[in-house]
Amino acid sequence: MDQSNKGRVNRDGIRIYDPSDFAGMHKAGALAAHILDEIAPMVQVGVTTEALDAEIERMVNDAGAVSATIGYKGYQHASCISINHVVCHGIPGPKVLKEGDILNIDVTVIVDGWFGDTSRMYVAGKLPRKAERLIEITHASLLKGIEAAKPGNTFGDIGHAIQTFVESQRMSVVRDFCGHGLGQVFHAPPNVLHYGRAGSGPKLEEGMFFTIEPMVNLGRPETKVLADDWTAVTRDRSLSAQFEHSIGITSDGAEIFTLSPAGKFHPTY
Ligand code: MF3
Ligand code: CO
Ligand code: CO
Repeated sequence: MDQSNKGRVNRDGIRIYDPSDFAGMHKAGALAAHILDEIAPMVQVGVTTEALDAEIERMVNDAGAVSATIGYKGYQHASCISINHVVCHGIPGPKVLKEGDILNIDVTVIVDGWFGDTSRMYVAGKLPRKAERLIEITHASLLKGIEAAKPGNTFGDIGHAIQTFVESQRMSVVRDFCGHGLGQVFHAPPNVLHYGRAGSGPKLEEGMFFTIEPMVNLGRPETKVLADDWTAVTRDRSLSAQFEHSIGITSDGAEIFTLSPAGKFHPTY
């Protein structure tokens, strides 16, 4: 259970925030998205992931915000940077980006106590054709999940929308990681699965805040975590992509808190 005392917790153990709480999430989400916009030109062949992370940490601090990931369960960086077959939780380090690498950059900031959590795909150099299709489908699957996120639907409807779309494209959805409630805490109930049966799971209600963050593989869905206890990779070493938004359920749909202020999302345009 989360420690926040805003709003109330419903019968499924999911916090329901007040209409006035959307403004705080919007501000935090906009900063996280802005940082993802600003890092884009730095993603180049020859740059290290620790250089990207240092720049992200500087942007978080300059904005007067706090990194949610530094100190989280011992994690020491302001971002996760996951290259090629790394599914998520890649640790920034001395690794140098090379031509055609695709990477997810995931940033979570805290602004006035509210959490904004978002990630996007980038490419170093020219985007390889197979990776381009993976990235397009992964982004489209996030949008399908968000379309299903409205009162009257269930969390299962979100997972079902994502899974059926991804599998119709002969790609696979990772089962080992999920989205999560957030708000004045980083990770809160429920687990937001990116697969599932239509109509299953808790009902969606106005005032719920959570992430949707599908990870999609070109090969099989299985993952494993490396000896560093963070880096998750595809077992078959196939390419993996991910996009993440933080959203809030409204009376008739969802507000995306982490939309890019500059309208960006794609690695190449
Ligand atoms: N931002 C990730 C998420 O989407 C969590 C990263 S936790 C970290 O939930 F410690 F690895 F940074
Ligand atoms: Co998240
Ligand atoms: Co994230």
